[in-house]
Amino acid sequence: MPSTPYSVWLGRTAKTTLPSFLHPLASGAYVGSKARLQIARDYLERAFFRLSGRSYLEWYARRQDRAAEAGWPAELLPWLRTSGKEDLDILIDLSLRPQHTLHGFGIGFLRCAAWFIDYLEPGNFSGNDTSGGRIKEGREAMGREKLLARNPRLLVTSDNSFDWMEGHQVDYIWSHAVFSHMPDEDVEDTIRNMCKIMHAGSAALVTYSQLYELAPGERRVYQQTTANFQRTLAWYEGIVAQHGFDITELDVPAERRPTGTRASA
Ligand SMILES: C[S@@+](CC[C@H](N)C(=O)[O-])C[C@H]1O[C@@H](n2cnc3c(N)ncnc32)[C@H](O)[C@@H]1O
Repeated sequence: MPSTPYSVWLGRTAKTTLPSFLHPLASGAYVGSKARLQIARDYLERAFFRLSGRSYLEWYARRQDRAAEAGWPAELLPWLRTSGKEDLDILIDLSLRPQHTLHGFGIGFLRCAAWFIDYLEPGNFSGNDTSGGRIKEGREAMGREKLLARNPRLLVTSDNSFDWMEGHQVDYIWSHAVFSHMPDEDVEDTIRNMCKIMHAGSAALVTYSQLYELAPGERRVYQQTTANFQRTLAWYEGIVAQHGFDITELDVPAERRPTGTRASA
């Protein structure tokens, strides 16, 4: 366990040296007519939510609920059944042990959370997601018996306040492929509020997407589509410094990096 108060570890999910005009292609965002339709639909729906005074978070939760309702494409099913363990392995390398407590922020359909729940002592895992549909999907996949035996706390939340943890503190926070789907102000809120569930030795492992190389120190945010945000490490360092966290970037070898960013995006 790190001894510095409130540390945040950041792990990159992907990086290439492609020129900027190819970034949307590299991300897959504009490939295929189905994806283009989805982007147009996202844009219009988000504009409608904004006009009616509803937040990005409400919109994205609705979008995820709809995706959960639609189900997964058959070709992704084998991957879904096996992926997620790499996240647990990384946390174990960073000294996670069964007796520790872990909170997952943005756990989706429990792709990785199911591994954490199995590994940790009963009652030591909690997680939240803004999409009730995704959590329901995960609960069904895990099965009632297992959930009862392992007793995870799975919360459907509608803000980034962490007040829903009711003051409960954890040793580790894990969040993979979530910040890359949140606008700047929501990420800032989350980083600020995360400390409510951290004690002096807690650490958070958060992945962020950065698809392209930038000049050293460049603080750029690149909004790729309505639902995808690419940010530099320098941007995160600026936010984290304001809130009293230490930050370390983990350079996890490509073959060991968590996967899944694309599948539920
Ligand atoms: C790409 S999925 C990743 C899911 C999971 N972390 C994984 O690796 O399988 C992003 C998830 O983050 C959730 N999410 C997005 N914004 C959130 C927020 N502000 N609070 C909690 N969950 C959020 C989405 O509903 C979605 O389930």
